[in-house]
Amino acid sequence: MTAPPRILQREETLDPAFLPPRLVRRDKELELLTRRYREALTKGIPFHLLLTGGVGSGKTAIARRLASDLERSGRLGDFPVRSAYVNCWRRASDRTVMLDLLRSVHVSLPDRGYSLSEMLDVFEQGLRRNPQHLLVLLDEAAALVRQETKLVYLLSRSREVELGSISLVLVAVEDLFPYLDPASRSSFGVTHRLALAPYDRAALREILEARAQLALRPGSYDTEVLDQVAGIAAPNGDARFALEILSGAAHVAEEAGSAAVSPEHVRRTKGSLLPTVAEDHLEALSTNQLGVLLALSRSLKGRGATVPSQRLRSTHSVLLEELGGAAMSRTTFWRTLKELERDGLITLEPGATGESSRIGMDEMPASFLATLLEERLERVRSRKP
Ligand SMILES: Nc1ncnc2c1ncn2[C@@H]1O[C@H](COP(=O)(O)OP(=O)(O)OP(=O)(O)O)[C@@H](O)[C@H]1O
Ligand SMILES: [Mg+2]
Repeated sequence: MTAPPRILQREETLDPAFLPPRLVRRDKELELLTRRYREALTKGIPFHLLLTGGVGSGKTAIARRLASDLERSGRLGDFPVRSAYVNCWRRASDRTVMLDLLRSVHVSLPDRGYSLSEMLDVFEQGLRRNPQHLLVLLDEAAALVRQETKLVYLLSRSREVELGSISLVLVAVEDLFPYLDPASRSSFGVTHRLALAPYDRAALREILEARAQLALRPGSYDTEVLDQVAGIAAPNGDARFALEILSGAAHVAEEAGSAAVSPEHVRRTKGSLLPTVAEDHLEALSTNQLGVLLALSRSLKGRGATVPSQRLRSTHSVLLEELGGAAMSRTTFWRTLKELERDGLITLEPGATGESSRIGMDEMPASFLATLLEERLERVRSRKP
């Protein structure tokens, strides 16, 4: 038997550090940022901005895209644009960030003995050799700014026009304005702040679609799977998490010897990334809830991401017969579904007109859940006289 063709064809494009050629649904934001910086730099004036947004909302991607777009636009005013990217998370002090910036202008100083202002002098000498507009991206800047940084202030005031200019982009999850010193605040007024809204499910689906086209073999995934992943990441609007699930599911599928990514591979990945449903969660369920959930995991096993409620109801009736339980009324069935939805165990989606609603369960592999539930139901039933 020949092995199925690989699913991951360009795995490196799923790496979090990969900068996609096109940013989906961020055109307006990117255009606004590019225009602001371009206008100021063309006049020889630096521009500073605070870019905020939730985890995985595309902050780093936008900031890096902005930098490369500006670099490629050639001279603005008298100087070309160059950029320096520093992730402050692990370098949360003015001096360590400054050492990185020195490297970006090709100066190296031993990491001792120099004061911040001496380092800045050396930095400006470095710039003088290569006059430019320097765009400094300080990513994950919260760690730095919370320690009463002086660097942000110094860099934002260093407008040596004859050397070009130094502009800042501060990137953070939360608004850093309250942490800035009063002098720096004036550089980050209202028109100098941009907050990225979280992605909704449709946007996440588009991001996944674009990335799947780059990374995966055509025909190894379908829109149902992408939509399922988008639905899982949608509550936090987190594109990073969405891509992580896609990448994980593609690996799981390959390891299982499948030629394509299935909804069950997605569930298995999600279960390993975020074990949200602990087994003790199931302990709290009523017999009705256990039965409906078991019917659902059986209907989902190895098949779609969701099932129509009608099909679920008939699977459930068969299951009740098998267990020797009384039939369940339509009202009780629906109430039970609603309870499970409220507990975050299942998802209920309205069907297209004339079709029944669709029920999904993304918490863990359906086969695993089915096994857990069967054991649990067995215990519940054996306790009854
Ligand atoms: N609009 C988009 N189009 C295509 N890919 C995107 C888009 N936004 C984010 N991504 C991708 O999603 C992942 C996460 O984005 P990014 O790292 O920019 O998020 P972030 O806001 O910086 O998150 P964090 O707060 O965790 O640093 C990256 O792989 C990025 O390429
Ligand atoms: Mg980031």
